[in-house]
Amino acid sequence: MTAAATARFSPRVFSGIQPSGGLTLGNYLGALKRFVETQNAGIESVYCIVDMHAITVWQDPAKLRHATRELAAGFIAAGIDPERSILFNQSQVSAHVELGWIFTCVARLGWMNRMTQFKDKAGKNAEAASLGLYAYPALMAADILAYHATHVPVGEDQKQHVELTRDIAAKFNHDYGVEFFPIAEPVIEGAATRVMSLRDGTKKMSKSDPSDQSRINLTDSADDIAQKIRRAKTDAEPLPEIPQALEGRPEARNLVNIYAALAGVSPEQVLADFAGQGFAAFKPRLAELAVSVLAPISAEMGRLMADPAEIDRILGRGAERAEAIARPILERTYEIVGMVRSRRA
Ligand code: TYM
Repeated sequence: MTAAATARFSPRVFSGIQPSGGLTLGNYLGALKRFVETQNAGIESVYCIVDMHAITVWQDPAKLRHATRELAAGFIAAGIDPERSILFNQSQVSAHVELGWIFTCVARLGWMNRMTQFKDKAGKNAEAASLGLYAYPALMAADILAYHATHVPVGEDQKQHVELTRDIAAKFNHDYGVEFFPIAEPVIEGAATRVMSLRDGTKKMSKSDPSDQSRINLTDSADDIAQKIRRAKTDAEPLPEIPQALEGRPEARNLVNIYAALAGVSPEQVLADFAGQGFAAFKPRLAELAVSVLAPISAEMGRLMADPAEIDRILGRGAERAEAIARPILERTYEIVGMVRSRRA
């Protein structure tokens, strides 16, 4: 189904990150690092700072503006070249919300009710959650499909939303008797598709975790990174010889996966080097590796943040290029749906 469903579309990658709080090691390994690999493989890539998604929960306006620029700096510092890729913030391209509304009318309540992230984020008091938090996956489908994107690199936690995007595309195509939207593929690959909390190996590392000790932030100092890894929860067993033997040891598995992803090797290779050693030996090596990868990114982010006007210029230019792709796709969508479009441009 999938090869045929996307065959007539040229390969295009789309992905997004929310500017809510800072970037975590989970965002970096699960998403950003892989965006850079995709860009460098020469695939046309569109990367979006999804500020409209961020406001589904309360955001202080000044902090949102700062987080948007800082995330842009993070993309660039990690290796996204805004000339080769398209990098912009979502609110500057209105096609996202326009198509988002159409998809809100395509998606079914039953589908939305199955979204586990809404249940997690809304928590026990779902009545007090915003309507936007509930409708959010329809906007995410619009983000992807406004570009006719065929591939969506994400971490494991976004898989269900990309699957919903596929359902929305298929229903739109079916209802209107067209083959207009591609059935986009989630791309969830590598050793770090789900980086876990440093305090609890059964919970995802997240920027919204109340404990800062649970995560590594891209802006953490070398000392903070080393200290967080030293204090990370582990167990008393030495490291085994093969990844299968990490079953039932979520914290140990998490640190091995983080090491593998940072070093660009497989978990098998990490264990080949560390089998039989305890965490007293492994943690300092992991801290050293993490600092060697993250410190230059963090330093470059700081340098870029010294010139916010330049960041804004880059996002503005990215938005113009994004608009040039999304607007004709949106106009064709309006035509398919039956809207009269008689205003002069
Ligand atoms: P967000 O902002 O929560 O996360 C951005 C990306 O980081 C990945 N990620 C992780 N990967 C591995 N381990 C973790 N602990 C971890 N935490 C986060 C996420 O999977 C994601 O790839 N809804 C999306 C943003 C979005 C989007 C889109 C993504 C909006 N529109 C269209 C792709 C395509 C979100 O909230 O991601």
